[in-house]
Amino acid sequence: MTDHLSVQTKDATTVRVWDPLVRVFHWGLVAAFATAWLTADEVQPIHEVAGYTVAGLVALRLIWGFADSRYARFTQFVKGPGATLAYLGSMLRRQEPRYLGHNPAGAAMIVALLLTLSGTAFTGWLMAEPDRVAMLPALPQIVSPAWADDDGDEYGEGGEAEGPLKEVHETLANLMLLLVAAHAAGVVFASIRHRENLARAMITGDKRAPEPGDIT
Ligand code: HEM
Ligand code: HEM
Repeated sequence: MTDHLSVQTKDATTVRVWDPLVRVFHWGLVAAFATAWLTADEVQPIHEVAGYTVAGLVALRLIWGFADSRYARFTQFVKGPGATLAYLGSMLRRQEPRYLGHNPAGAAMIVALLLTLSGTAFTGWLMAEPDRVAMLPALPQIVSPAWADDDGDEYGEGGEAEGPLKEVHETLANLMLLLVAAHAAGVVFASIRHRENLARAMITGDKRAPEPGDIT
Protein backbone atom coordinates (compact mmCIF):
# COMPACT_ATOMS: atom_id res chain seq x y z
CA MET A 1 0.00 0.00 0.00
CA THR A 2 2.72 2.42 0.98
CA ASP A 3 4.58 1.36 -2.15
CA HIS A 4 1.62 2.16 -4.31
CA LEU A 5 1.18 5.55 -2.70
CA SER A 6 4.83 6.44 -2.99
CA VAL A 7 4.51 6.06 -6.75
CA GLN A 8 1.95 8.80 -6.96
CA THR A 9 3.17 11.30 -4.41
CA LYS A 10 5.66 13.94 -5.34
CA ASP A 11 8.34 12.71 -2.96
CA ALA A 12 8.24 9.21 -4.48
CA THR A 13 11.61 7.50 -4.40
CA THR A 14 13.38 7.99 -7.65
CA VAL A 15 16.69 6.89 -9.06
CA ARG A 16 18.96 8.61 -11.56
CA VAL A 17 18.85 6.75 -14.88
CA TRP A 18 19.74 9.11 -17.75
CA ASP A 19 23.03 10.92 -17.39
CA PRO A 20 23.34 14.58 -18.51
CA LEU A 21 25.00 13.70 -21.79
CA VAL A 22 22.15 11.40 -22.84
CA ARG A 23 19.60 14.10 -21.98
CA VAL A 24 21.40 16.93 -23.73
CA PHE A 25 22.01 14.60 -26.67
CA HIS A 26 18.33 13.69 -26.86
CA TRP A 27 16.79 17.13 -26.79
CA GLY A 28 19.61 18.64 -28.83
CA LEU A 29 18.96 15.95 -31.43
CA VAL A 30 15.23 16.67 -31.45
CA ALA A 31 15.94 20.39 -32.00
CA ALA A 32 18.59 19.85 -34.69
CA PHE A 33 16.50 17.24 -36.52
CA ALA A 34 13.42 19.48 -36.47
CA THR A 35 15.49 22.42 -37.74
CA ALA A 36 16.98 20.30 -40.57
CA TRP A 37 13.48 19.20 -41.57
CA LEU A 38 11.91 22.62 -41.47
CA THR A 39 14.71 24.28 -43.43
CA ALA A 40 15.09 21.53 -46.08
CA ASP A 41 14.80 23.10 -49.52
CA GLU A 42 14.08 26.44 -47.80
CA VAL A 43 17.19 27.84 -46.12
CA GLN A 44 20.09 25.68 -47.33
CA PRO A 45 22.87 27.04 -45.05
CA ILE A 46 20.78 26.47 -41.91
CA HIS A 47 19.73 23.07 -43.24
CA GLU A 48 23.35 22.03 -43.56
CA VAL A 49 24.41 23.36 -40.15
CA ALA A 50 21.45 21.58 -38.53
CA GLY A 51 22.31 18.38 -40.42
CA TYR A 52 25.94 18.55 -39.29
CA THR A 53 24.75 19.15 -35.72
CA VAL A 54 22.69 15.95 -35.98
CA ALA A 55 25.79 14.12 -37.26
CA GLY A 56 27.98 15.50 -34.45
CA LEU A 57 25.47 14.58 -31.76
CA VAL A 58 25.08 11.06 -33.16
CA ALA A 59 28.88 10.63 -33.29
CA LEU A 60 29.16 11.79 -29.67
CA ARG A 61 26.41 9.38 -28.62
CA LEU A 62 28.11 6.48 -30.42
CA ILE A 63 31.31 7.12 -28.46
CA TRP A 64 29.37 7.58 -25.20
CA GLY A 65 27.66 4.22 -25.77
CA PHE A 66 30.98 2.57 -24.96
CA ALA A 67 31.76 4.72 -21.92
CA ASP A 68 31.18 3.72 -18.33
CA SER A 69 27.70 5.18 -17.79
CA ARG A 70 25.35 2.36 -16.89
CA TYR A 71 22.11 3.09 -18.77
CA ALA A 72 23.86 4.82 -21.66
CA ARG A 73 25.96 1.78 -22.54
CA PHE A 74 24.89 -0.06 -25.69
CA THR A 75 25.65 -3.42 -24.05
CA GLN A 76 23.15 -2.51 -21.31
CA PHE A 77 20.16 -2.17 -23.63
CA VAL A 78 20.79 -3.38 -27.20
CA LYS A 79 19.41 -6.93 -27.49
CA GLY A 80 19.41 -9.51 -30.27
CA PRO A 81 16.38 -10.33 -32.46
CA GLY A 82 15.31 -13.23 -30.21
CA ALA A 83 15.09 -11.16 -27.03
CA THR A 84 13.47 -8.28 -28.91
CA LEU A 85 10.77 -10.53 -30.42
CA ALA A 86 10.21 -12.17 -27.03
CA TYR A 87 9.67 -8.73 -25.52
CA LEU A 88 7.23 -7.75 -28.30
CA GLY A 89 5.37 -11.02 -27.61
CA SER A 90 5.12 -10.17 -23.93
CA MET A 91 3.77 -6.74 -24.93
CA LEU A 92 0.99 -8.40 -26.94
CA ARG A 93 0.12 -10.51 -23.88
CA ARG A 94 0.26 -7.30 -21.82
CA GLN A 95 2.85 -8.87 -19.58
CA GLU A 96 5.93 -6.90 -20.52
CA PRO A 97 8.12 -6.10 -17.52
CA ARG A 98 9.14 -2.55 -16.72
CA TYR A 99 12.72 -1.75 -17.63
CA LEU A 100 14.58 0.91 -15.72
CA GLY A 101 16.73 1.57 -18.79
CA HIS A 102 15.58 1.23 -22.42
CA ASN A 103 13.35 -1.78 -23.06
CA PRO A 104 14.37 -4.13 -25.94
CA ALA A 105 11.79 -2.71 -28.39
CA GLY A 106 12.81 0.86 -27.60
CA ALA A 107 16.44 -0.19 -28.01
CA ALA A 108 15.79 -1.62 -31.49
CA MET A 109 14.13 1.68 -32.40
CA ILE A 110 17.12 3.63 -31.07
CA VAL A 111 19.47 1.58 -33.29
CA ALA A 112 17.20 2.24 -36.29
CA LEU A 113 17.05 5.97 -35.49
CA LEU A 114 20.82 6.30 -35.12
CA LEU A 115 21.53 4.37 -38.35
CA THR A 116 18.95 6.28 -40.38
CA LEU A 117 20.14 9.63 -39.02
CA SER A 118 23.73 8.72 -39.91
CA GLY A 119 22.68 7.76 -43.44
CA THR A 120 20.67 10.96 -43.89
CA ALA A 121 23.50 13.18 -42.70
CA PHE A 122 26.09 11.26 -44.76
CA THR A 123 24.12 11.47 -48.02
CA GLY A 124 23.47 15.16 -47.32
CA TRP A 125 27.19 15.77 -46.81
CA LEU A 126 28.01 13.88 -50.03
CA MET A 127 25.52 15.95 -51.95
CA ALA A 128 26.60 19.33 -50.65
CA GLU A 129 29.78 19.42 -52.79
CA PRO A 130 30.06 17.69 -56.18
CA ASP A 131 33.67 16.69 -55.37
CA ARG A 132 32.53 14.52 -52.48
CA VAL A 133 30.50 12.20 -54.69
CA ALA A 134 33.57 11.73 -56.86
CA MET A 135 35.36 10.26 -53.83
CA LEU A 136 32.93 7.36 -53.72
CA PRO A 137 33.86 4.06 -55.34
CA ALA A 138 31.86 3.41 -58.51
CA LEU A 139 29.06 1.90 -56.43
CA PRO A 140 26.04 3.43 -58.16
CA GLN A 141 26.97 1.84 -61.48
CA ILE A 142 27.22 -1.56 -59.81
CA VAL A 143 23.97 -1.10 -57.96
CA SER A 144 22.03 0.15 -60.95
CA PRO A 145 23.35 0.02 -64.53
CA ALA A 146 20.68 2.58 -65.38
CA TRP A 147 22.85 5.20 -63.72
CA ALA A 148 26.02 4.10 -65.50
CA ASP A 149 26.10 7.14 -67.77
CA ASP A 150 25.61 9.48 -64.86
CA ASP A 151 28.88 11.37 -64.47
CA GLY A 152 28.46 11.47 -60.73
CA ASP A 153 27.67 15.16 -60.65
CA GLU A 154 24.62 15.62 -58.49
CA TYR A 155 24.05 19.16 -59.61
CA GLY A 156 21.80 20.21 -62.46
CA GLU A 157 21.90 23.44 -64.42
CA GLY A 158 20.34 25.53 -61.68
CA GLY A 159 22.85 24.39 -59.06
CA GLU A 160 20.12 22.31 -57.41
CA ALA A 161 21.00 18.90 -56.13
CA GLU A 162 19.36 16.07 -58.06
CA GLY A 163 19.86 12.45 -59.00
CA PRO A 164 19.90 9.19 -57.08
CA LEU A 165 21.78 10.60 -54.10
CA LYS A 166 19.11 13.20 -53.52
CA GLU A 167 16.48 10.47 -53.78
CA VAL A 168 18.29 8.42 -51.15
CA HIS A 169 18.70 11.48 -48.90
CA GLU A 170 15.01 12.33 -49.12
CA THR A 171 13.89 8.74 -48.68
CA LEU A 172 15.98 8.40 -45.53
CA ALA A 173 14.65 11.73 -44.24
CA ASN A 174 11.07 10.53 -44.87
CA LEU A 175 11.83 7.19 -43.23
CA MET A 176 13.02 9.20 -40.20
CA LEU A 177 9.56 10.73 -39.91
CA LEU A 178 7.98 7.28 -39.74
CA LEU A 179 10.54 6.10 -37.19
CA VAL A 180 10.10 9.20 -35.03
CA ALA A 181 6.31 8.77 -35.09
CA ALA A 182 6.67 5.13 -34.02
CA HIS A 183 9.27 6.13 -31.40
CA ALA A 184 7.00 8.77 -29.88
CA ALA A 185 4.05 6.33 -29.95
CA GLY A 186 6.20 3.75 -28.17
CA VAL A 187 7.13 6.31 -25.52
CA VAL A 188 3.46 7.18 -24.92
CA PHE A 189 2.48 3.51 -24.84
CA ALA A 190 5.20 2.52 -22.34
CA SER A 191 4.43 5.61 -20.24
CA ILE A 192 0.79 4.55 -19.92
CA ARG A 193 1.59 0.88 -19.31
CA HIS A 194 4.05 1.60 -16.53
CA ARG A 195 2.35 4.76 -15.26
CA GLU A 196 5.32 7.08 -15.52
CA ASN A 197 6.06 10.02 -17.75
CA LEU A 198 9.06 8.80 -19.76
CA ALA A 199 9.47 12.07 -21.67
CA ARG A 200 9.77 13.89 -18.35
CA ALA A 201 12.32 11.32 -17.19
CA MET A 202 14.38 12.17 -20.30
CA ILE A 203 14.41 15.78 -19.01
CA THR A 204 15.06 15.22 -15.31
CA GLY A 205 17.08 12.02 -15.68
CA ASP A 206 15.13 10.39 -12.86
CA LYS A 207 12.74 7.45 -12.89
CA ARG A 208 10.66 5.71 -10.26
CA ALA A 209 12.78 3.41 -8.15
CA PRO A 210 12.61 -0.22 -9.27
CA GLU A 211 9.93 -2.44 -7.80
CA PRO A 212 9.88 -6.25 -7.64
CA GLY A 213 9.66 -7.67 -11.16
CA ASP A 214 11.26 -4.65 -12.80
CA ILE A 215 14.39 -5.19 -14.86
CA THR A 216 17.29 -3.03 -13.80
C1 HEM B 1 8.96 15.09 -28.99
C2 HEM B 1 9.10 13.85 -29.33
C3 HEM B 1 9.98 12.90 -28.55
C4 HEM B 1 9.80 12.40 -27.30
C5 HEM B 1 8.68 12.70 -26.32
C6 HEM B 1 10.90 11.50 -27.05
C7 HEM B 1 11.09 10.80 -25.89
C8 HEM B 1 12.09 9.90 -25.66
C9 HEM B 1 12.22 9.11 -24.46
C10 HEM B 1 11.28 9.15 -23.28
C11 HEM B 1 13.31 8.34 -24.61
C12 HEM B 1 13.80 7.29 -23.61
C13 HEM B 1 13.03 6.04 -23.93
C14 HEM B 1 13.08 5.04 -22.81
O1 HEM B 1 12.58 5.36 -21.73
O2 HEM B 1 13.63 3.94 -23.03
C15 HEM B 1 13.90 8.63 -25.89
C16 HEM B 1 15.06 8.08 -26.39
C17 HEM B 1 15.61 8.39 -27.59
N1 HEM B 1 15.04 9.20 -28.57
FE1 HEM B 1 13.38 10.31 -28.35
N2 HEM B 1 11.71 11.46 -28.16
C18 HEM B 1 11.19 12.31 -29.09
C19 HEM B 1 11.69 12.60 -30.33
C20 HEM B 1 12.85 12.04 -30.83
C21 HEM B 1 13.41 12.38 -32.12
C22 HEM B 1 12.83 13.42 -33.08
C23 HEM B 1 14.54 11.64 -32.24
C24 HEM B 1 15.52 11.60 -33.39
C25 HEM B 1 15.70 12.54 -34.24
C26 HEM B 1 14.69 10.84 -31.04
C27 HEM B 1 15.72 9.96 -30.79
C28 HEM B 1 15.91 9.26 -29.63
C29 HEM B 1 17.08 8.48 -29.33
C30 HEM B 1 18.28 8.29 -30.26
C31 HEM B 1 16.90 7.95 -28.05
C32 HEM B 1 17.90 7.12 -27.25
C33 HEM B 1 18.47 8.00 -26.17
C34 HEM B 1 19.81 7.52 -25.69
O3 HEM B 1 19.92 6.46 -25.07
O4 HEM B 1 20.78 8.22 -25.97
N3 HEM B 1 13.65 11.12 -30.20
N4 HEM B 1 13.12 9.58 -26.53
C1 HEM C 1 20.24 14.47 -40.75
C2 HEM C 1 19.50 15.49 -40.94
C3 HEM C 1 18.94 15.87 -42.28
C4 HEM C 1 17.64 15.81 -42.67
C5 HEM C 1 16.45 15.33 -41.83
C6 HEM C 1 17.56 16.27 -44.04
C7 HEM C 1 16.40 16.34 -44.78
C8 HEM C 1 16.31 16.77 -46.08
C9 HEM C 1 15.13 16.78 -46.88
C10 HEM C 1 13.74 16.32 -46.42
C11 HEM C 1 15.45 17.26 -48.11
C12 HEM C 1 14.53 17.41 -49.33
C13 HEM C 1 14.11 18.82 -49.56
C14 HEM C 1 13.26 18.89 -50.82
O1 HEM C 1 13.82 19.04 -51.90
O2 HEM C 1 12.04 18.75 -50.69
C15 HEM C 1 16.86 17.57 -48.10
C16 HEM C 1 17.56 18.09 -49.17
C17 HEM C 1 18.90 18.40 -49.13
N1 HEM C 1 19.76 18.24 -48.06
FE1 HEM C 1 19.29 17.44 -46.26
N2 HEM C 1 18.82 16.61 -44.45
C18 HEM C 1 19.71 16.39 -43.42
C19 HEM C 1 21.06 16.63 -43.43
C20 HEM C 1 21.76 17.24 -44.46
C21 HEM C 1 23.18 17.57 -44.45
C22 HEM C 1 24.15 17.26 -43.31
C23 HEM C 1 23.46 18.16 -45.64
C24 HEM C 1 24.75 18.70 -46.18
C25 HEM C 1 25.67 19.25 -45.52
C26 HEM C 1 22.24 18.19 -46.40
C27 HEM C 1 22.14 18.70 -47.68
C28 HEM C 1 21.01 18.68 -48.45
C29 HEM C 1 20.95 19.13 -49.83
C30 HEM C 1 22.12 19.66 -50.65
C31 HEM C 1 19.63 18.94 -50.24
C32 HEM C 1 19.04 19.24 -51.62
C33 HEM C 1 18.49 20.61 -51.64
C34 HEM C 1 18.02 20.94 -53.04
O3 HEM C 1 18.87 21.35 -53.83
O4 HEM C 1 16.83 20.73 -53.34
N3 HEM C 1 21.22 17.62 -45.66
N4 HEM C 1 17.35 17.26 -46.85
